[in-house]
Amino acid sequence: MSETVLDVRDLEAGYEPGVPIVRRASITVNKSEIVVVLGPNGAGKSSFIKAIAGLVPITGGTVFLDGKDITAAPAHTMVRLGLAFVPQTENIFPLMSVEDNLKVACGILQRREIPARIDEMYAAFPDLVRQRRTAAGNLSGGQRQMLAVARALVVHPKVLVLDEPSAGLSPKFVSMVFEMLAGIRKSGVTILLVEQNAKAALAIGDRAYVLVEGRDRHEGIASELWNDPVVAELYLGQRPLGAQRTGHAARGGTA
Ligand SMILES: Nc1ncnc2c1ncn2[C@@H]1O[C@H](COP(=O)(O)OP(=O)(O)O)[C@@H](O)[C@H]1O
Ligand SMILES: [Mg+2]
Repeated sequence: MSETVLDVRDLEAGYEPGVPIVRRASITVNKSEIVVVLGPNGAGKSSFIKAIAGLVPITGGTVFLDGKDITAAPAHTMVRLGLAFVPQTENIFPLMSVEDNLKVACGILQRREIPARIDEMYAAFPDLVRQRRTAAGNLSGGQRQMLAVARALVVHPKVLVLDEPSAGLSPKFVSMVFEMLAGIRKSGVTILLVEQNAKAALAIGDRAYVLVEGRDRHEGIASELWNDPVVAELYLGQRPLGAQRTGHAARGGTA
């Protein structure tokens, strides 16, 4: 039996009273899984994960993390509870060095464990070592996302939640980011990922949900969803022509 890390049930959330954007959406994320949330622009994907992270008011439903009800937990307590959220933008401090970005992300760690933990991050993300003194704003788009993910991982979260980590990146960096996420999962980290880039995300994901108008409309095994007619119609607007899943779309740089 797989162990459920994140269990979101009938979540309803929105920015104004009486105007739900997320409308009874339910998902589960099991330990060491990559779960992908797809959906058309404006479907409420960002609102959904922001609500989970305590950043959009929740008006119904529940969020359980490791069996604990965190529905009402404020955003600033999420890291301590074990949920690390990487927003789509503004996920690093551009004027600070790479190293200082990592240091300030270590808030909940014991002071004496911080240097070793930062070294572990450098070992996991060798690109960042060479840039440790560089202002984060001067990194490439791909390295910036790497730093954002390292900042989230530094505190050993139970689940890493990412909003469109490939947005705005050139294809080369898209591949780099997805390879990085696949590698992180191999080390046992549980990942919930919202993505516009369906093909690349499904190539590294285990299961996926399709969110439409704030609802989970469809669910399946990631490797099967790319060729699923319902997904093609709902999300891609057409059947993907001759879509042959290789299982390594991200690695092949075709994203
Ligand atoms: N800060 C906000 N205030 C009010 N409405 C918002 C805000 N952010 C998003 N919305 C609305 O919520 C809906 C879903 O947006 P979003 O969650 O960003 O979708 P997605 O990430 O799937 O593109 C859209 O109609 C959008 O206009
Ligand atoms: Mg979004």
